Amino acid sequence: MYEDCKDCIATKWCKIYKGEVQGSKNPWCSAKYRLEEALKLSRIPKIYIEANIYNYDVDKDNQENYKIIKKVVDNIIETVEGGTNFFFYGASPGTGKTFNASVIINHYIYKSCLTSRFDFENPLGLYIVYADLIDDLRYRRDQDYVQNTLRLINQVPLLLIDDVGSGSNSDFSREQTYIIMNNRINNGLSTIYTSNLSIIELKKSDNLGSRNVSRLLNNTIGLEFKGDDRRVKSARRAGL
Ligand SMILES: Nc1ncnc2c1ncn2[C@@H]1O[C@H](COP(=O)(O)OP(=O)(O)OP(=O)(O)O)[C@@H](O)[C@H]1O
Ligand SMILES: [Mg+2]
Repeated sequence: MYEDCKDCIATKWCKIYKGEVQGSKNPWCSAKYRLEEALKLSRIPKIYIEANIYNYDVDKDNQENYKIIKKVVDNIIETVEGGTNFFFYGASPGTGKTFNASVIINHYIYKSCLTSRFDFENPLGLYIVYADLIDDLRYRRDQDYVQNTLRLINQVPLLLIDDVGSGSNSDFSREQTYIIMNNRINNGLSTIYTSNLSIIELKKSDNLGSRNVSRLLNNTIGLEFKGDDRRVKSARRAGL
């Protein structure tokens, strides 16, 4: 155990913390340092940074999806290296689409941040909100931040595109989406998509369109999320 352990998110599964593996003699934990750096580069929002299989609430609404997510997580490196894609959909808000997508990306980071794959510069997984990305590409394309994001999108082993198809769609957004999807598929890179829309809705020519949806469904595990809004449940717990 290290002094560092007290605010480490990995204590639920860390073998050093559990005493199963001997840590180094250093007074600090290099694994924690690597994990924190990898998570920072991933841009995962704060509320999903601890979304993982150890903090996963299972109930009647998500028990079937949980079993599939658990299998994916148990095999995460092979799954990502195999270029598997994911599509998490469901019209109701707050049912866990982004949470489950974050579970996958977080576990990939946990497993790969301690390997030579991580170079402290390039993210292993990257979180992007679709509407923000399209907005950036349309209005701020020349900015360094946007250029860098675009480079990462084309290279990162695991990309999470949250709320694909949301926002105002146009020929421009469809074209940009096509370029990104096509490039990732051609390079065998894994992508997780979430959406409030169904495949039928996304296929419409005024949304993503059929060519993009065909790519979205390439080598893809699709899961529907239903049930109660978990945000409302947590508000009730807070006494509202
Ligand atoms: N299995 C779970 N265990 C613990 N917390 C969860 C679980 N599923 C969802 N949550 C929490 O419930 C809230 C809503 O989940 P989430 O943000 O994933 O919903 P969503 O389906 O993406 O909603 P939206 O359609 O509005 O984007 C979040 O705070 C999330 O952390
Ligand atoms: Mg969401």
